[in-house]
Amino acid sequence: MVRTKITVIGGGNVGATTAQRLAEKDFCDVVLVDIVEGMPQGKALDIMQSGPICGYDSRVTGTNNYDETIGSAIVIVTSGLPRKPGMSRDDLLKVNAGIVQEVTRRALTKSPGAILIIVSNPLDAMTYVASKVAAREFGYTPSDIRQKIMGMAGVLDSARFRTFIAMELGVPVSDVDAMTLGGHGDSMVPLVRQATVKGIPVSRLMTPDRIDAIVERTAKGGAEIVSLLKTGSAYYAPSASTVLMVESIVFDKKTVLPCAVLSSGEYQGCEGLFVGLPARLGAAGVEEVLKFDLSGSESAMLLKSAADVKDLCGAVDRLGF
Ligand code: NAI
Ligand code: 2OP
Repeated sequence: MVRTKITVIGGGNVGATTAQRLAEKDFCDVVLVDIVEGMPQGKALDIMQSGPICGYDSRVTGTNNYDETIGSAIVIVTSGLPRKPGMSRDDLLKVNAGIVQEVTRRALTKSPGAILIIVSNPLDAMTYVASKVAAREFGYTPSDIRQKIMGMAGVLDSARFRTFIAMELGVPVSDVDAMTLGGHGDSMVPLVRQATVKGIPVSRLMTPDRIDAIVERTAKGGAEIVSLLKTGSAYYAPSASTVLMVESIVFDKKTVLPCAVLSSGEYQGCEGLFVGLPARLGAAGVEEVLKFDLSGSESAMLLKSAADVKDLCGAVDRLGF
């Protein structure tokens, strides 16, 4: 079997857990890159040594440089500072933009044409930063950018939404269908009208007050975990979300997942922005952005969320990235 090579940049909580989850799936070889000497090497070895116990043969290489990443089909960017208690995602913009710019440049030098999945926060703006590097320095065309550069957030936010609905109703999460669109921030858009349990709209199963509470908890789902952990942010669900996107691409599953993708006008106010929209992920990357029939209030919420993303991207431009 030819194993796909996948690079994970940033060997911290999200990066290392993503590497572990990928290794356990046993379909790819993983290169874990971090600036901390010895750390990615140690974690990679530790993950590989779980292989005989867990029954996988994935090769996991830890490194502080990019030579081992040559020829990666997919590069996942998790490097950056996590949010600390009291710190907004936006506070992270400047420092993480510098990191994302540098690692994107170094990764694409070794793997020209790779698909990029950005995880670092603030997510939508960091995806924009990566796209600028790819366009300016590596000749990615607008269609390359649309297909090959995407951010992970909507899968996570939707998983939180589904979890809270399942917890409220005492039903299995597998019975719950629900999605969030928009930016990965407090103005994200959990789609209540489309949220169902075994096809039954949640509006028939819960009071409006309970639905509002779940929507609010979903939008603040990242901050809830930050305030509990105190020394970092979520990583189990974020890594699981990233791996779901990878699997849809590697196995050409064509699953529709909400991802930060370059919008070309499917939704009002989103054009030209990386913002969470329903995307079909297959071998080529983002193969289609689906157009959902949103209500007036959902469209208005998406417009507001896109405006927030636009502000952050404006800051990226003003800072010279
Ligand atoms: P972490 O602090 O555990 O790991 C970050 C790693 O990046 C550290 O090991 C650090 O040494 C490394 N790093 C920093 N600069 C680097 C560089 N230039 N090259 C290579 N590695 C570098 O943080 P964690 O929890 O893994 O989170 C990573 C990022 O992902 C944060 O920005 C966080 O906010 C974001 N995040 C995004 C989510 C989303 O839904 N999009 C969900 C969870 C986290
Ligand atoms: C989250 O939503 C911190 O963005 C990260 O958990």
